[in-house]
Amino acid sequence: MAAVISSCTLNVSFRCATRMGYAARRVATNHGRSFSSATSDLKPSYEYILAEKNGSAGLITLNRPKALNALCDGLLDDVIHASRAFDKDDSVGAIVITGSKKAFAAGADIKEMSSRDYMQCYINNQFESWGDVAKINKPTIAAISGYALGGGCELAMMCDIMIASESAKFGQPEITLGVIPGCGGTQRLIRAIGKAKAMEMVLSGNMIDAHQAERDGLVCRVVPDDNLMEEALKLANKISSFSRPAVAMAKETVNSAYELNLAEGLRFERRIFHSMFSMEDQKEGMKAFIEKRPAEWKHK
Ligand code: CAA
Repeated sequence: MAAVISSCTLNVSFRCATRMGYAARRVATNHGRSFSSATSDLKPSYEYILAEKNGSAGLITLNRPKALNALCDGLLDDVIHASRAFDKDDSVGAIVITGSKKAFAAGADIKEMSSRDYMQCYINNQFESWGDVAKINKPTIAAISGYALGGGCELAMMCDIMIASESAKFGQPEITLGVIPGCGGTQRLIRAIGKAKAMEMVLSGNMIDAHQAERDGLVCRVVPDDNLMEEALKLANKISSFSRPAVAMAKETVNSAYELNLAEGLRFERRIFHSMFSMEDQKEGMKAFIEKRPAEWKHK
C-alpha cells in the first residue's frame, strides 16, 4: 500500500471553520495556517482488516471471514485506527468500509462478550469507542454485501452513505439474544427508517433485504453484487475530486440536522454557506463555471 505524499496547504481564515474537524485539526496546530502531514499513518498491516488506497479513496475491508466479520474489540480498534489515518492523509478524500460477499458484519462478537458482567461493561463503557467511526471528518461510505446484523448494521449506519448489493440483509437481532442494540441501533435506525419500521426490526429481530432497505431509506441504492466495490469506489473518488473543505462542511452541515431543530439547522447551514465565501475554492469553483472549464481546487 503506497504512502502518498501530498503538499496540500490549508489556510482556514474564517471563524466558523474552528467548529469543523477538518479545519480545526490544522487551526489547532498553526493558528489557521498549516501544512499537512506528508505520509500516511496507516500501519503496515492490521490483524482484522485490510487497509489500502484506491485512487483518492481509502478502502477498509473487514477481514475476519471465518466469524462472518463478527466485530470483536480488536476489529473495531483496527477500523478506527485506519479511519483516522485516512482522515489525516490529504491524498484521501473519502473512505469506503466493506466486508465480504457473505457478510459485511454479523454483529458484535457474541463469543467475546457473552461472559462479561455488568461492571465490566460499565467500567469499560462497552461500545462507546466504536462511535468514533461517526466522528471521522471525511465522508465514509459503507459498501454492504450479505449480512449486516446487530453491530454490523450499526457500523454501517455510522457511515455517511450506505450502498447495498442485491445480497445485502439488514437486521437488529439482539432481541433474539436477550439484549437490545447497544451501538446506536435503536437511535440511528429510527432516524433512518421511522418508528414503525425500526420498532418491527428491533422487537422482532426480522431482517430486511436490500430492496426493502432502499425503499425504507436505509441505503441510498442497490447495485448488483459484482458491481458493489466499483460503484462504492467510484462514488468515493468522485467525492474526493471536490474541494475538501467544502465536502467536510457539507458533511458536517447535513449531520447537524440530527442534533438541531429546523430553525437552528437552517441558521447553521446559512452561516456555513456565508463562511465559504472566504475560501479560495468558492472563488475558483464559481469562476471555473463562468469560464466553462474544470475547477482547480486549492483545498483552502
Ligand atoms: N459473534 C460471534 N461469532 C459469530 C457471529 C457473531 N455475531 N456471527 C457468526 N459467528 C460465527 C459463528 O459462530 C460461526 O462460527 P463457528 O464456525 O466457529 O461455529 C461462524 O461465524 C459462521 O456462522 P454460522 O455457522 O452461524 O453461519 P450461517 O450462515 O449458518 O448463519 C448468521 C449466518 C445468520 C449471520 C448467523 O451466524 C447469526 O445469526 N449470527 C449472529 C447474528 C447476531 O445475532 N448479531 C448480533 C450480535 S449482538 C450485537 O451486535 C450487539 C450490538 O448492538 C453491538
